[in-house]
This record gives sequence, structure tokens and C-alpha cells, in this order.
Amino acid sequence: MTKPKVFLTRPILESGMRIVLENCQADVWPGELPPSHEFILEHVKVVDGLLCQLTDPIDKEVINAAGQGLKVISNCAVGVDNIDVAAATGRGFPVGNTPGVLTDATADLAFALLLAAGRRVVEGDRVVKQGKWKTWGLGFMLGADLRGATLGILGFGRIGRAVARRAAGFGMEIIFTEPGIAEAEPGISAAQVDFETLLQRSDFLSLHCPLTAETRGMINVAVFKKLKPTAVLINTARGPIVDQGALYEALRSKTIFAAALDVTVPEPLPVDSPLLTLENCIVVPHMASASRQTRQKMSEMAAENLLAGLRGEKLPNCVNPAVYGAR
Ligand code: GLV
Repeated sequence: MTKPKVFLTRPILESGMRIVLENCQADVWPGELPPSHEFILEHVKVVDGLLCQLTDPIDKEVINAAGQGLKVISNCAVGVDNIDVAAATGRGFPVGNTPGVLTDATADLAFALLLAAGRRVVEGDRVVKQGKWKTWGLGFMLGADLRGATLGILGFGRIGRAVARRAAGFGMEIIFTEPGIAEAEPGISAAQVDFETLLQRSDFLSLHCPLTAETRGMINVAVFKKLKPTAVLINTARGPIVDQGALYEALRSKTIFAAALDVTVPEPLPVDSPLLTLENCIVVPHMASASRQTRQKMSEMAAENLLAGLRGEKLPNCVNPAVYGAR
């Protein structure tokens, strides 16, 4: 029996790759950088399955160009904002993602950034390496306390709650905005508040919501004005949720204390970005899920979603189950 044809916009890690190669005729883009939009457009015309990554815009044009044979789009990421899911649903293509396996790794990095920005770890390292460390001093490198501080979590889903569990261990108070959560998280005291209160009370504000039409640009000038001057913003969600120009101005003018970003607009952030001139801003290269086991598990999940779609079965993790109702 001939194996189904699939296109991988880049290799996935070994454990996932093995699954794909055993079951499919795979065309794998070999480059370090993602393939061009045109290249993806040409390839979706002739394959049964597409395994893509968050760097690949799978927009309406790509979805419309896909051949009749396409059975599945498997994204090797939990976020699917790179895919026009509505268009995929319209053509009956199930879209897979990789939720759950990256929750702890992402929460770990969010917490690492929270500590690093609050306690000026990266700035301290720079001070030492640049020979600017003159002496120990009582008022030198003062940062934020965690015990007793309030952590505002925007997006109290799997990752937001995992961050809350870590914060509870540091003696932080946790607030979030989602209504209707009776018991926020077993064993953790967390309170539901409205958005305004979240902004006014947060000593640390950590973003864990998906990028949608509602959340795009949500952290803007008006928000920065409401935050405390001691506030620290952490973004491990998606870059466009934050208005970066407004963030730059808020950090430069000390309207807020610090920020730490795993995600930016664009990615990679150009080295001449004004944000990179600021001592109170940490930027790391979209690496929240980048732990060895997590990335292997994501690769396996993406491969399993791909195979299920090729077999005409429900994807183990599907973001548009409406496609099944329509069939
Ligand atoms: C990473 O950002 C992901 O969505 O998996």
C-alpha cells in the first residue's frame, strides 16, 4: 500500500520524526529557517497532510490552495494563531495542536522570567561583565519582593494555573479575571477580580491568554497607566497581545518597573529594536516550551495528530472539532 504524502515545514524532533517516517512519504523542508509562503502554497496542493510550526502562516491563501487530498493540518505548537482556523474549518480540514505537554515547561519559563525581571538578574549579570560592579551597597540593585506580592494572571487556563501553583510556593497572592471558576485551583488561594482591579492590584502581571481579536493589543497605553510604577509584566503568550511601542514608553519613563518577554513582534526581534536598549527589559527568543522532553512530546503529539487525520480518524487534539459535525 502506498504511504500517504505529507509535507513538514521543518523536521520535528526524533521521536515524532520516527512516527512520521514509518507511516508516510515525507517531504521535509531542510532549512534552518522556515520555508517561504510560496513554497508552502505549492506543497499543500499535492499532499495528504501538512505538519507545520508556529512560524508558518497557514492563512486563507494556503488553505484555499490546498488540494482535495489534504486531510489534516497538524501544528507542532499549542497556539494556532498562525493558522486561519475558520478557513480550515470551512474546507473541512481538522487542525491539530499540542496542548498539555508544554504546560509545565512554559510555566517554568514564565516564573524564571518573573524572578529574573523582578530581581534584576540579567541586568546584574551585565553590570558584572561590564566591570560596573563597584562595591556591595544597601541600595544597590534593589528589586521586587515576591512574598506577599500580588500576581495577576491574564488567562487562567492550563498554563496560567501552573504559574499560580508556582507563585503560591513563593507566598504570592493570586488574582485572575475569568468568571465562573468556583474553585480556582485546588490548594491555592486565588481570587477572581475584574480587569481594572487586576491592573490596579498586580505587582506582577503574567500573560497566558491566546492571541485572538479580543486580546490583540490588549496591553496598551491605557493599561500601562493603570499599573503600579513597581509592576513587572511577563509575556510568554504571544507578542501582539502587547502594544510594544507603549511598552517601550512605559519602561523608558518608569511608568512600570520592568518587563520580561519570551514573545515579541516581530520574531526574531531586530537587534536595533528600542526595547533592547532598556536595562529593565529582558527579551528571550520564544523558548518557553524549549525543554528537551517537552519538545520531544510535542513532536510526538504533532505526529500522532497527523497520522490520525490521514487515517480519517478524529485527531487526539483538535482545535476545530466542528469539522466532524459537518461530515
Ligand atoms: C508556543 O508558543 C506554542 O504555542 O506551542
